[in-house]
Amino acid sequence: MTRIVITGATGAIGQALATGYARPGNRLVLHGRQREVLESLVADCRGAGAEVECSSVDLGEDGALFAWLESLCDPTPPDIVIVNAGININIGEDGSGESWDDASRLLEINLRVPMAIGNFLGKRMRAAGRGQLVLMSSLAAYHGLPVTPSYSASKAGVKAYGEALRGWLAPHGVGVTVVMPGYVSSKMCHEMPGPKPFLWQPERAARVITRGIERNRARISFPFPLDFGCWWLAVLPAAISQRLVKGFGYHIDPHDGAKR
Ligand SMILES: NC(=O)c1ccc[n+]([C@@H]2O[C@H](COP(=O)([O-])OP(=O)(O)OC[C@H]3O[C@@H](n4cnc5c(N)ncnc54)[C@H](OP(=O)(O)O)[C@@H]3O)[C@@H](O)[C@H]2O)c1
Repeated sequence: MTRIVITGATGAIGQALATGYARPGNRLVLHGRQREVLESLVADCRGAGAEVECSSVDLGEDGALFAWLESLCDPTPPDIVIVNAGININIGEDGSGESWDDASRLLEINLRVPMAIGNFLGKRMRAAGRGQLVLMSSLAAYHGLPVTPSYSASKAGVKAYGEALRGWLAPHGVGVTVVMPGYVSSKMCHEMPGPKPFLWQPERAARVITRGIERNRARISFPFPLDFGCWWLAVLPAAISQRLVKGFGYHIDPHDGAKR
C-alpha cells in the first residue's frame, strides 16, 4: 500500500493530484479546510478504489501540525508527501501595496508550513531511509514579480529550501522534489493580476507532476516556453531582467492600475 499525503487537496491542483492518485493500492491522506469539498473528493477517491482519510488540522498551529505529522508516521513515514496548500496576494489594482497582515499570513502557509513539514518529516524519512517530499513552488521563484512581491519571495524560499533538503536527504534514500508550475487554472490563479500565458488545466499539471514524482525529479517546472523564459530572468543581469518583466506586463501602470 502506497501512502500519499496531499495538503491543499481542496484546491484545483490538489484535487487533480488526489484524483490522479486515486486507485486500488494507494492510501490517501487529504488535507483541506473546506469540509464539503473535501468530503465530496474523499467519496470520489474511494469510488476509484483508493483508501482515503482526511484532515482539516490547523497547519499554522505548530502543536496541532506536529501532532498530525507524528500520527502520519505511525508506524512508518508516508511514501509521498505533497505540500501543496498555498495562497496568493497582490499589491492591489491601484498598486498601493500589500497589507502586512496578509503578507504575514501568506508567509505562514506558503513558506513556514512547508519548512515545518520538511523539518519534521525530513528527519523521520531520513531515519527510515525512504520517502519523498514534494514542495510546491512556482515559476515566480525565478524572479520576483512586481505585482506579487510576498508570493514571489515565499516561492523562492520554498525552492531554495527544497533544493537544500534534497542535497541533505538524497544520500539517505529520501527524495525531495520542487514543483514550479506556470499558470494553472484555479481560484488563486484567476485572482492574480497580470497576463496568464500558456494557461494549463489542473489535470494536465497533475499528470506532469505525478510523472516527475515517480522519477524522483529534483525540479518539475512547466510549461516549457514560460519555464525557459522565467529561467532566463534568473540568469540575466538584473537590470535586463527588470526591463523584461516590465515589458511582459507584470508591473503597475500608475494611471491604469494593475494589468490583468
Ligand atoms: N494555479 C497556479 O497558477 C499556480 C502556479 C504556481 C504555483 N501554484 C501553487 O500550487 C499550489 C496549489 O494552488 P492552486 O492553484 O490549486 O490554488 P487553489 O485552488 O486556490 O487552492 C489552494 C489550496 O490551499 C489551501 N489553503 C489555503 N490557505 C490555507 C491555510 N491557511 N491552511 C490550509 N490550507 C490552505 C486551500 O484549502 P482550504 O481553503 O480548503 O483550506 C486549497 O486547497 C499553491 O501552493 C500555489 O501557490 C499554483
